[in-house]
Amino acid sequence: MIKPFYLDLTENEILDIQNKFGEILRNGTLILGEYTEAFENEFSKYVGSNYAVSLNTCTSALEILLVLNGTQGKKIAVPTNTNFATVAAIIRAGGIPIFMDMTSDYFVPNLEILKYTLDQHRDLKGVVWVHIGGVIAPDFEEIVEYCKLKDLFLIEDAAHAHGCQMKGTKAGNFANGGAFSFFPTKVMTTMEGGMITTDSEEHAILARSYRNQGKRGGDYGGLHYDLGNSWRISEIAAYIGLVQLSKLDSMLHKRQQAVNALIPTLNELGIDYVDTRHMDKASNYKFIIKYASDEDVNSIKMKFKANGIVLGGGVYEVPCHLQPVFSQIPYQKEDLSTAEGYCPKHICPPITSGTTEQDIVEIAQVISKTLK
Ligand SMILES: Cc1ncc(COP(=O)(O)O)c(C=O)c1O
Repeated sequence: MIKPFYLDLTENEILDIQNKFGEILRNGTLILGEYTEAFENEFSKYVGSNYAVSLNTCTSALEILLVLNGTQGKKIAVPTNTNFATVAAIIRAGGIPIFMDMTSDYFVPNLEILKYTLDQHRDLKGVVWVHIGGVIAPDFEEIVEYCKLKDLFLIEDAAHAHGCQMKGTKAGNFANGGAFSFFPTKVMTTMEGGMITTDSEEHAILARSYRNQGKRGGDYGGLHYDLGNSWRISEIAAYIGLVQLSKLDSMLHKRQQAVNALIPTLNELGIDYVDTRHMDKASNYKFIIKYASDEDVNSIKMKFKANGIVLGGGVYEVPCHLQPVFSQIPYQKEDLSTAEGYCPKHICPPITSGTTEQDIVEIAQVISKTLK
């Protein structure tokens, strides 16, 4: 069975982590210690941001960034094609989500869609942009400039975009802060974990406070300055993050090789996919293959499974505004027809840093007989 998830740790790396776990337990600093700090330093260096603040999840990273940028009571644009967590963070930070549609080419919005959203909502305060599947929109630099011009804050949900780069800039370092996820399925993991990247010293200081129940600086005693939460990462998770980060580029290279090996088959069959060649580097967290038939995606998934291939989750088969939870939470209905039309009609083949050449041969064969 070819599976969509692969924990990329060698036996030696696992032994190293076990030893480190023992060391951490013996010395007793379980949180906010040297590995948390080292992981943050290495991550900020990797992304190119001045600061990085590690957390328990990407969801809390998003919520903190939203609070720090003044979301309370304000309208925030967000793609409907995202994980529920992105929108939930806006609501929990006191904001009002305004859903944006996407393009069928890239599964993310573009500048035109953002302009339309601002036209409809002149009181928009900010944008949470999502690099879906690791795809940075080709016009993202213009989007960044437009947000500056219109005084909109722009936060990047980079949960899928570790290592993604366009025109020399890494995801998470384009605008007013990035939020990364290290959930087990992501291209690098800490089991559970998240990271904020920012160039703002003030935001970095406050983010460290928010993750630690509002305690500022080295004051871990009784004073609470901010309405924070218990959103710290553990030392062992931070150490796993250091190990994963040290091999991130090589893991991304393997994913790209697997995608490159699959593309000729898709081209031959005339099957459309989301192309990331406009980027310097893509994470290929999800390689998005679109299909033209009316067949239900679950029926396609079952056919793949019957042929030994477990497809990964899509990004996303159900756009956020159609999730059951939004039947209870009122939102303003926009034209989201491209997302509604295309989201249910794509698949993501099981591509990981552990994908072999033989896996690609088998995936290509099943695509040929299932999707053409
Ligand atoms: C786009 C996106 N944003 C945010 C999140 C939330 O990440 P976490 O589980 O680390 O909170 C996810 C998780 O899958 C995601 O896919």
